[in-house]
Amino acid sequence: MEQEDLQSPASRAPSRRAALLGIGAVAGVGAVDLGAFLLASGRLTPDRLTPGRLTDGFETVFGKHAGFRRNHAKGVGVAGSFLANGAGSAVSEAVVFEDGRTTPVTGRFSLSGGVPDVADATQTVRGLGLRFDLPDGEQWRTAMINRPVFQDRTPQGFYERMLAFKAIPGTGKPDPEKTAAFLAEHPETVRAMELAKQQPPTSGFADSSFNGLNTFHFSNSSGDTVPVRWSLIPLQPVRPAAKRPLGRNELFEKLIAALDAGPLRWRMVLTIGRPEDPVDDATEAWPDTRRTIDAGVLTLTSARTEAAGEGRDINFDPTVVPRGITPSSDPLLSARSAVYAQSFTRRAGEGIRTSPVKAAEESDV
Ligand code: HEM
Repeated sequence: MEQEDLQSPASRAPSRRAALLGIGAVAGVGAVDLGAFLLASGRLTPDRLTPGRLTDGFETVFGKHAGFRRNHAKGVGVAGSFLANGAGSAVSEAVVFEDGRTTPVTGRFSLSGGVPDVADATQTVRGLGLRFDLPDGEQWRTAMINRPVFQDRTPQGFYERMLAFKAIPGTGKPDPEKTAAFLAEHPETVRAMELAKQQPPTSGFADSSFNGLNTFHFSNSSGDTVPVRWSLIPLQPVRPAAKRPLGRNELFEKLIAALDAGPLRWRMVLTIGRPEDPVDDATEAWPDTRRTIDAGVLTLTSARTEAAGEGRDINFDPTVVPRGITPSSDPLLSARSAVYAQSFTRRAGEGIRTSPVKAAEESDV
């Protein structure tokens, strides 16, 4: 079997096939991309970055935690719905944007990193994965984070950064020589880190914005196509993060308590790119003067245990999109699809395990 090479952006263009594999999938199993599934882990051509080698990278850095996601291992499932106001139909024929349509949503809040019982920390990247279940088995899956841009332009950059920033045993800190060498080679990562500092994390999940970061192409019913990036902007009041260290599960406990007290809401904002805006570089922000469309409101109503059939078993592969949305040529997107499939395949083979954050103790399940 030929090795897939993640250094080549064209190596595995996300396709309608990937989307179709996701459609009707039971708990995400169908989203496992068969191409990636069949790939070996780089034994034949050890210098090439394959999905297997990238996934191995997570195990090198975080250790191997059988049954858990290789990244964003700590998380909690949620459920709710999206109510569209019709404005999104101007740019996409996806039914999710039809005026007045309510779409059921299954999601998962998470913290980045491959350690399932890691202590919550303000600076750790917060994630939100969502699966919108549309009529006729169509789905829209997305995984977003609370950062304004991504740190890496390419899968190779992601892999090298992950290894360069690996904590040295004993010190708990990365090797300064390795991080300096990496950053000298990657000015785009330095710029992304500076931008992230200007938009510090908020007090918790409920008042975080979540950004899709990668670009997608939206096509409307007249056949017009525009580049789009999307964000979820909290309708909860935004508060600054605590300056003190957090309790071990504090962010998740606050989220579960908030959901117990009532629904949480986010506006979905679509940002429309102009022809000069990069579509294949998630480290670059688009100018904030770009046209935006408020497409509707996401309402999350309950925290769920990570039980079978809920957030735990979903592969939030961002290339699973409905008609009216197409992945761009961003090399991160095809890599994400392949690596999430690897991660899913490994954890499924090991017996999927539930994240130590359990909503059942505090919530309505
Ligand atoms: C080359 C770049 C990337 C790699 C290699 C990577 C890798 C991974 C892996 C292995 C997982 C676990 C998948 C699973 O087992 O289900 C994951 C989850 C996740 N990733 Fe990425 N990722 C990348 C880029 C991104 C970007 C750009 C974003 C946000 C815009 C993102 C957001 C997330 C989120 C929110 C999750 C958790 C989803 C869940 O709860 O299952 N990742 N990532």
